[in-house]
Amino acid sequence: MKRKKIVAGNWKMNKNFSEALNLTSEILNLSEKTNCIKIIIPPFPFIHAINEILKSKIDFYTGAQNVHDQEQGAFTGEVSASALSSVGAKYILIGHSERRIFFNEDAQFLKNKINTALKNQLLPIYCFGESLLERESGNYLKVIEKQISEVLFHLQENEILNTVLAYEPVWAIGTGKTASPEQAQEVHQFVRSLIKNQYSIETAESISILYGGSCNAQNAKALFSMADIDGGLIGGASLKAEDFNTITNSFS
Ligand code: PGA
Repeated sequence: MKRKKIVAGNWKMNKNFSEALNLTSEILNLSEKTNCIKIIIPPFPFIHAINEILKSKIDFYTGAQNVHDQEQGAFTGEVSASALSSVGAKYILIGHSERRIFFNEDAQFLKNKINTALKNQLLPIYCFGESLLERESGNYLKVIEKQISEVLFHLQENEILNTVLAYEPVWAIGTGKTASPEQAQEVHQFVRSLIKNQYSIETAESISILYGGSCNAQNAKALFSMADIDGGLIGGASLKAEDFNTITNSFS
């Protein structure tokens, strides 16, 4: 089965409303016919307006950067999966290292979020990846195996098929230090083999695994040419329309 190619722009806590609309228009103006799905993941308040602009465009979708694990209720400041669905979000980032580190999100919480997202027709983009210390200790594959198995392996096959994975080594995020294509490929191939062992070869071959961490207009082509890298989760470079579009054109 042919896997979906995906480029997702995680805008993080950047842009105000008019800047967000301008960036969306610029991306659309520069956009050429590509063979990938493009996802814009802006701050919450902009999702609805951006989705209104993108919803008639082929292969463009919006996503959200966070969701709470409970369906609704007295959780001041949090946003529910059904609220996100209702404003047009289709994808949801879960497990980003900035949320794990700055907001202490643990495996159980992430597992609950995945369940709630799927129940509300949001497609999770589950982020995982090792710290610099874990890479240097040589134990990174063990760390990754734990991050994958404890948050995802309770899912049914049809549920994991609705999940996108994103390998984001913490040491590469926002640092300008990218994993080499070979380093990333090693992890992507390993994760695909974990999914094959837990589910089936068909499922493993169908799931898109993105790379994130200082992926940019210069290095995307080399990364995306690797057999198990199906696209990118882009932070900094997604804030420039030209760079984002170059990245979406980086599949051969
Ligand atoms: P970066 O961020 O591209 O700025 O390194 C990637 C991410 O955090 O998703």
